[in-house]
Amino acid sequence: TTNGFTVAIDGPAASGKGTISKAVAAHFGFAHLDTGLLYRAVAGKTLQGQSPAEAARALVPGDLEHDDLRRPSVAQEASRVAAIPEVRAALVDFQRSFAARAGGAVLDGRDIGTVICPQAQVKLFVTADAEVRAERRYAELAGKGMDVTPEEVLKDVLARDARDMGRADAPLKPATDAVRIDTSTMAIADAVAEVAALIQGVLDRMPDKGA
Ligand code: CDP
Ligand code: CDP
Repeated sequence: TTNGFTVAIDGPAASGKGTISKAVAAHFGFAHLDTGLLYRAVAGKTLQGQSPAEAARALVPGDLEHDDLRRPSVAQEASRVAAIPEVRAALVDFQRSFAARAGGAVLDGRDIGTVICPQAQVKLFVTADAEVRAERRYAELAGKGMDVTPEEVLKDVLARDARDMGRADAPLKPATDAVRIDTSTMAIADAVAEVAALIQGVLDRMPDKGA
């Protein structure tokens, strides 16, 4: 059984962790949670004047579904509220319950392998050069018709890298037992295939395989 089987995928902004997570979740029939959306949803509320801790405690699933949460300005605010310990603490239970659900789960974010699910059966740390990440994110947002500039996106990525790695509470860093993947020169399909093979290998070695 894959109940409680957790895949933790962490990494900096636009490294490819969301794309990989979605694809391997679909492949194995696991549920997927983009935990960055939680922080972006809190940011959406603080930009409208709510206090960060209150907004985090009052978060409901419907809050995660706004398209404008993808904006670089919201991402910046997300990384600011994500440095507040009360905000992080309010989001822990939801993430851990999601990870423990029946049928397996993939969670992607910054602290999944280190703080949220240190017991995860598979841990990955996905990286890519900052310029490559910014170019990909710019292409993605511009492709969706969003009014952004390459400079704005690069600035957002660099500022969040520094803030997310530098904060005291749950900083962005690879878990000691995480497998590292650099997607700078990798096609999406190859990154997905590599991660799927890794997960399959762990599933194959599980003692209750086929039970
Ligand atoms: O979730 P995260 O912010 O880490 O990144 P993503 O949203 O999965 O990927 C950012 C953008 O890079 C997306 O538009 C992906 O399609 C693209 N990408 C890519 O071109 N090549 C890869 N190997 C991985 C992602
Ligand atoms: O998709 P992208 O990697 O650009 O960002 P995201 O995953 O949506 O995360 C937005 C911000 O939320 C990050 O810059 C982090 O500051 C914060 N975050 C976090 O602190 N912990 C997580 N598990 C996920 C996101």
